[in-house]
Amino acid sequence: MLNEHDLTWYKDAVFYELYVRAFKDGNADGHGDLPGLLSQLDYLQELGVDCIWLLPICPSPLVDDGYDVSDYRGVHEDYGTLDDFKALVEGIHARGMRVIIDIVVNHTSDQHPWFLQARASKDSPLHDWYVWSDTPEKYREARIIFKDTESSNWAFDTLTGQYYWHRFYSQQPDLNYDNPAVQQEMLDILDFWLALGVDGFRVDAVPYLFEREGSNCENLPETHQYVKRMRAHMDANWPGRIMLAEANQWPEDVREYFGDGDEFHMAFHFPIMPRLYMALKQGTRRSIVEILQRTPGIPPLAQWCIFLRNHDELTLEMVTEEERQFMWEQYAPVPRMRLNLGIRRRLAPLLDDDPRRIRLLNALLFTLPGSPVLYYGDEIGMGDDIWLHDRNGVRTPMQWDASPNAGFSPADRLYEPVIADDVYGYQVRNVAQQRADPASLWHSTRHMLAVRKQHRAFGRGTFELALPENEAVLGFWRALEPEPGAAEDGERFLILVNLTDAPQRAALDLADWAGAQPLDVLNGESWPAVGGSAYKVELAPYAHHWLKF
Ligand code: NOJ
Repeated sequence: MLNEHDLTWYKDAVFYELYVRAFKDGNADGHGDLPGLLSQLDYLQELGVDCIWLLPICPSPLVDDGYDVSDYRGVHEDYGTLDDFKALVEGIHARGMRVIIDIVVNHTSDQHPWFLQARASKDSPLHDWYVWSDTPEKYREARIIFKDTESSNWAFDTLTGQYYWHRFYSQQPDLNYDNPAVQQEMLDILDFWLALGVDGFRVDAVPYLFEREGSNCENLPETHQYVKRMRAHMDANWPGRIMLAEANQWPEDVREYFGDGDEFHMAFHFPIMPRLYMALKQGTRRSIVEILQRTPGIPPLAQWCIFLRNHDELTLEMVTEEERQFMWEQYAPVPRMRLNLGIRRRLAPLLDDDPRRIRLLNALLFTLPGSPVLYYGDEIGMGDDIWLHDRNGVRTPMQWDASPNAGFSPADRLYEPVIADDVYGYQVRNVAQQRADPASLWHSTRHMLAVRKQHRAFGRGTFELALPENEAVLGFWRALEPEPGAAEDGERFLILVNLTDAPQRAALDLADWAGAQPLDVLNGESWPAVGGSAYKVELAPYAHHWLKF
């Protein structure tokens, strides 16, 4: 059962990002749904997931796969009903897990009744719920995010003869947060879902809530003010429920979204993600170290979310132009692999399906400061289909077994085809097969996850770099001091990884630890005791070790 007294559960939690349409079809219509997901909760529990993050589930015309909401208080008909949702939340909580949902605060669908009324007449009370202008000249300093499809953040509306503001697809008009009614409505919507039992929200597109002339219209003070209001509302009424920020920004800008502990509980660490991949191709830790050093401290109860992949393209917004070119050359040699400022591929194909590199990045996912977020299917190394529309190629059906349609659905036609190629196809890559094979990626992922959960230092501990001269080796400490008067001892880990395909030697200054005998908690092997001089290690290609001191 759920421990409702644990108000800081998110610090220790392992998150699992899940696309309902892709997970399990419960009514044989070719689309995954809530009852289907309910039937697979034991699987997630067995994997060791603590909190499921559901991609948008509200009614939507699906121009942006649910990030274009047309009713904030319902469930998309493909997914089921509100009663199905209640049953799902109950099932999740009964297993001691939690669930957060995506909440799209910045914009609605252009089919939302609010927008339909807003454009019906300039005198409509709903008109001012959106951002209008008589010219497309305002806010010129705001960048265009969906570069491949949009040429402006303004779209002309024939009914009103005005332009409306949109940061994403033109079918996603931005809400006007200068209007108090909009602010209040969004709080009411949070309440609606909180009353249904959700444990929190992944808040979409946070930086863009307000617009101001002469700025790039991102991270404005007014946005922080509103976030504080959301947080105060949550704290006052729903203790233990969380808000996770999607703010694809530089570390110092994301840091602001934690406020003084009075804004978000959590925020994704976007910039570190591409650098993990970059480091593998460069054979040096430099870019990882740089971004970690550039990452400010955060309030004690705040937490980063670390991820390797998600439902979008692997974003290259938070790298330099030169680094972006490098990443594209290295990881997206086929033009179709590129999308906007990113790469539409999954974890395993990005790493040439090399188990050593996949496990290495997983090891960093589970030990870097923050809570890890796994993307559905990556635990079995699912492949992608770059020829599908937009980002759909990384949203294909979950591969449960080798039966037709990968055990995902008995329907004749699926929302998208299952991956069926020789390497990543469901016939050879699926949950059933990997569960039966103790050497599989699934087992290694589950093992890392279990080991992580035995040691609170990974979720709550301090972080300190431990850098030997050899730049091919990344090392860092995670440590938790014993709490005063607590029965539990403190704990301290040294994480060591070899970022290259060659064996690497390194020497570490562990003078403070003379006499200690490190233990690799992943495989139970003891390492030589620390002596008086430099501690010399030899790491196999792409090796990773979690050494307990
Ligand atoms: C970020 C989401 O991750 C992405 O999928 C979506 O297209 C945009 N926000 C717009 O809502």
